[in-house]
Formats: sequence, structure tokens, C-alpha cells
Amino acid sequence: MAIPKNTNRVSTLREPQLAIVVAMTDDRVIGCKNQIPWDMPEERLLFREMTFDNTVIMGSHTFQSLEKPLANRINIVLTKSPKSFPGAITCRSFFQSLVLGLRIGKPIYVIGGVGPYQMALSVADCLHISWIKGTFKGDRYFPELDRRNWLAEEKRVYEGFSYVRYRRHIKAVTQP
Ligand SMILES: NC(=O)c1ccc[n+]([C@@H]2O[C@H](COP(=O)([O-])OP(=O)(O)OC[C@H]3O[C@@H](n4cnc5c(N)ncnc54)[C@H](OP(=O)(O)O)[C@@H]3O)[C@@H](O)[C@H]2O)c1
Repeated sequence: MAIPKNTNRVSTLREPQLAIVVAMTDDRVIGCKNQIPWDMPEERLLFREMTFDNTVIMGSHTFQSLEKPLANRINIVLTKSPKSFPGAITCRSFFQSLVLGLRIGKPIYVIGGVGPYQMALSVADCLHISWIKGTFKGDRYFPELDRRNWLAEEKRVYEGFSYVRYRRHIKAVTQP
């Protein structure tokens, strides 16, 4: 897949945003048997609206769990393997995917799974979490979150889940 030319003048003038998007239960379940354990159309719609026309970075298992590449988004897939993933640009490291995302110049959303989330947690400035109500059996978990680093800026309650947008908490630098 060819790297699209950056035609969006506004996004080239400001820093592209790096965000994490995840849906998880209170006990941090995100997946089971390479699928999402719940079926929530409203949550999927929220995800689509948020990531639409932007760049998404994901691991190869997450990409393979999708029926097809995410439409109207630049799909970047992390893999160490030499194989290609139709409809996606492959990168061999998280760093490489970030450099590419920055060159493209659109907001970047890291959309899973566990490894990409872990890498993105130290650099993302924004965290979009859909907190799924109830308990679900899982075999994949979002990394432990240090809540002191994240400020909840917005909360919306939906049937079956609550959406919270967090911003990285920048500690004030004090003079010695
Ligand atoms: N609830 C949610 O919001 C959400 C979101 C996304 C995914 N999920 C769920 O999570 C599960 C999939 O996640 P997962 O953790 O098992 O797998 P994953 O992160 O999607 O994929 C793992 C693979 O990605 C590649 N990879 C990961 N980090 C890399 C890096 N830094 N450099 C190069 N390659 C890298 C490797 O691919 P190769 O083996 O090809 O080298 C690795 O084996 C599924 O159940 C899915 O439904 C849930």
C-alpha cells in the first residue's frame, strides 16, 4: 500500500495527536481467542467515529481478527514477519510505526493489542477507554494503568459501557 501524500494543511501545522483507544472491563479484559468478548454496536460506532480518517496502529493478531482493513483509515500493522497484510502498511517496530504515523501527519490511534498498548502507554498523550460493564472471560488484558498519570477529562455513559477520555497528567516542574 502506497503511503498517501499529506494533503491536510491543518494537521501538518500542529503536532499530530497520539492516543490509545481501548474497550475493557474493570478487570482489564480486552480479548479472548483473538476476538473481542462482547458485542456492542454502539461502542464500535464510537470507535469508528473517533478513528475515522486517521491513522491506526495495531499488532498483527488484532489486524487478523478484523474481517477486513478498517475502512477510511490508514492501517499500520506491527509485525516481525516478512509477510504482507493486504490493505495495511507493515512496520517492524513500534518506533518505525510512530515515525511513519508522524510523517503521514494525521492523529494516530493505537488500537491494540497488549504489546502495542504497552509501548504506547509511555508516549501517548490521550487515552480513550470504554469501560465495559460486567465480567467476560478473557485471555488478553490491558496493561496495568497508573491512574496518577491520567486525568479524566470527559465521561459519557452508554448502555453497557461508559466512555472516559483521559489526558496525560503533566506534573509541574518545581524549582529546587
Ligand atoms: N478490547 C479492545 O479494545 C481490543 C483492541 C484490540 C485488540 N483486542 C483483542 O486483543 C487480542 C489481540 O491482541 P494480542 O495482544 O493478542 O495481539 P496483537 O498485539 O494484536 O498482535 C501481536 C503481534 O503483533 C506484532 N507485534 C506486536 N508488537 C510488536 C512490535 N513492537 N514490533 C513488531 N511487531 C509487533 C507481532 O506480530 P508477528 O507475530 O506477526 O511478528 C505480535 O505477535 C484479540 O483478542 C483482540 O480481539 C481488543
